[in-house]
Amino acid sequence: MAMVEWFEFQIPSKIICAEHCVDSIGMEMEKVDGSKVLLVTDKGVEKAGLAQAVIDGMESGNVEVVGVFNEVPPNSEVKIVQKCFEAASSNGADSLVSVGGGSVIDTAKAAVILMIEGGDLLDHQSAVYVPSGAVPPHIAVPTTAGTGSESTFAAVIADHEQKMKLIFQSPELAPTVAMLDPTVTTTLPPHLTASTGIDALTHCIEALHSEMHEPICDGIALHGIKLIASSLPRAFKDGSDIEARTLMLLSANMGGVAFSNAFVGIIHAMAHSVGGKFGIPHGVANAILLPYGMEFNLRYVEEGIPAKYKMVAESLGLDVRNDDDETAARKAIEHIRKLNLELGLPQRLSEVGLPEDGLEAVTEDAMIDGCMFNNPGEPEFDEVLELYKKAF
Ligand SMILES: [Fe+2]
Repeated sequence: MAMVEWFEFQIPSKIICAEHCVDSIGMEMEKVDGSKVLLVTDKGVEKAGLAQAVIDGMESGNVEVVGVFNEVPPNSEVKIVQKCFEAASSNGADSLVSVGGGSVIDTAKAAVILMIEGGDLLDHQSAVYVPSGAVPPHIAVPTTAGTGSESTFAAVIADHEQKMKLIFQSPELAPTVAMLDPTVTTTLPPHLTASTGIDALTHCIEALHSEMHEPICDGIALHGIKLIASSLPRAFKDGSDIEARTLMLLSANMGGVAFSNAFVGIIHAMAHSVGGKFGIPHGVANAILLPYGMEFNLRYVEEGIPAKYKMVAESLGLDVRNDDDETAARKAIEHIRKLNLELGLPQRLSEVGLPEDGLEAVTEDAMIDGCMFNNPGEPEFDEVLELYKKAF
């Protein structure tokens, strides 16, 4: 596989991983000069006592929690980001702590834009956001192991008026510190453990087949796949398995680091589209589309995709030593289908509320999603529509 001729690699976030590391979050916030913190979360996380655990951890430093914004829904939207920013301003916050899944962390990342620029979030949409002032400290505590949002450069925010998902992107939006504490993920129910875990797997695989892939990300993604293969079924079966939860947090973070630098492709483009138009949860959409997207990409032999997927098969723990690239790749795809079944995830888009007469509309959105441009080749409208039909 030809390597991209020129690349940059960065991990702007400091990453801390340990059981009960949130107990020292106040000390970490003090180190990055935050003193008046707005805690951003959702009601489910708050009810599970996870927000309180983080508030208690603030006592380890000379910082004050000036407010709690708990109104983030599963797929955050532009209006919620505006409200989050208003909560930060009215409480005089100079920093943010986000405790939750990707939606919560992305809300805080987008609120950071407004803390710097003010005004309307939609005014700050561009291919790459360049801050016009100092970036406020933001510590992210993920309560799911999937998006890797605690270290990624992007915030995905729904625009309900346009029925689209907007992507705000900049290395400056990566949280200042990511605290990976398995104890805050043990209450995550099995179905969310499954769908968010497959999102992490999709990040690793898409970073590998992306046009922008490069050796550093390849290594991170392949090891991420290995950790997911060993720990996702364990975390699904026993949520209190701290070792499995830790490995899932790490692999999700590695997937996030890999795809922030190498980007993702057709699977995410198609998942964003069905999420934006019909509210299909991101991880579920990825779980359904991942095997189909991989099968589609097998045609890019010159780009080395079957060889890449042979490496995926090896990381999944399959014995493919004597197989040619395509045979090994197909074994990896079948293994992922079986993993989805084992995790109780749906297999078809028709099972999760996508209407058949919506297929053309989601194809239109997928074709203009930024992720599509990083996929190998240049998938045509009819090919993508056909792929949606197969997954339907
Ligand atoms: Fe994703």
